[in-house]
Amino acid sequence: MSRGVVILGSTGSIGTQALDVIARHRDEYRVVALAAGRNTELLAEQAQTFGVPADLARSGLDDPHALAELAAHPDADVVLNAVVGFAGLPATISALEAGKRLALANKESLIAAGPVVAKARASGDGEIIPVDSEHSAIWQCLRSGRPSEVRRILLTASGGPFRGRSAAELATVTRADALKHPTWTMGAKITIDSSTLMNKGLEVIEAHELFGIDFDDIDVVVHPQSIIHGMVEFVDGATIAQMSMPDMRLPIGLALGAPERFPEPFGAIDWQTLGALTFEPPDLATFRCLALAYAAGRAGGTAPAVLSAANEVAVSAFLDERIGWTTIAEVVAEVLDQGTGNADEIADVLDADRVARGRAAVAIDRRSST
Ligand SMILES: NC(=O)c1ccc[n+]([C@@H]2O[C@H](COP(=O)([O-])OP(=O)(O)OC[C@H]3O[C@@H](n4cnc5c(N)ncnc54)[C@H](OP(=O)(O)O)[C@@H]3O)[C@@H](O)[C@H]2O)c1
Repeated sequence: MSRGVVILGSTGSIGTQALDVIARHRDEYRVVALAAGRNTELLAEQAQTFGVPADLARSGLDDPHALAELAAHPDADVVLNAVVGFAGLPATISALEAGKRLALANKESLIAAGPVVAKARASGDGEIIPVDSEHSAIWQCLRSGRPSEVRRILLTASGGPFRGRSAAELATVTRADALKHPTWTMGAKITIDSSTLMNKGLEVIEAHELFGIDFDDIDVVVHPQSIIHGMVEFVDGATIAQMSMPDMRLPIGLALGAPERFPEPFGAIDWQTLGALTFEPPDLATFRCLALAYAAGRAGGTAPAVLSAANEVAVSAFLDERIGWTTIAEVVAEVLDQGTGNADEIADVLDADRVARGRAAVAIDRRSST
């Protein structure tokens, strides 16, 4: 029997790569439903190619309930949530409550609503398999020992296009500069998040939520070649690393097929040409977003939701060239300083998200009008 897959965010970077993965093994995977945002032309084309009926190829922008509905579709075995941003939250909850495997690329939903997602995850048969390459790596490394034997986990960061630059140099970088990621080709929002190291900060919170590991035991190391994606250090000092070429089709295939590995060598390394792998500590003073994310993660409650919402608004303003790159961290810090609360219920998270977006917009208006 083939596995039924729902792909939310099918027109994006992860969504199109997932369809490429599935296209290679159509006997084992069938696409049940698709959802996207604005790109309805590509959505219709994908639906036709993969035999998805028109009523199961929906735009989440036209119908806000579409994502959650499709995520609970009875024919779905796996729901790939590859929507960008907080808009992915209802689908994350719905897939887990319906007992699906959630192949999670949409980190923002888990970060903003960690305790709420944890409840949905514990409520039945639903499970999360991470798609983010670092978390997929950690998930793979954790197979080498018992949970009680883990000392710490290490997330690698490429350092983005601005690695090694000073604060003064960063004051004048442009949208085009920030969109030039050295090792990965991704959607615009995550590419900007990678340039500020907010992506790594969000991933620290994501790792805490996924694996239940304390923030003190999650470290970040800059590794510009993006060959090692994550590492787990065990109590005897043994460190297990997952290595592969930077190709998201590997973690996507694993999330779809786990515990089976996808029989395509997407990440195979040519050791004759690989060269040196290097490591350095992140510069937390210059790349403030990473430090802000650690602080928000440790604060808990709605702080991660506020961090993520303020960041989404600031990144969007940066992409619209309304604010400079360094202003992204300033806006996030200012909104976090205005307070956070408890995040026990979904209503708390929705409210925190709405308020944080409003506050970020005010902070941005004040800066862009001066
Ligand atoms: N790209 C990567 O390599 C990578 C790696 C790790 C994690 N991730 C995570 O994966 C997620 C997706 O990233 P991406 O790079 O693939 O982003 P992307 O290329 O910008 O694609 C985003 C997708 O979400 C859709 N979308 C946006 N708003 C929507 C809404 N309200 N309802 C339904 N669909 C909506 C977009 O549709 P339209 O284009 O049709 O508007 C598009 O299909 C993000 O959370 C990101 O952090 C990505």
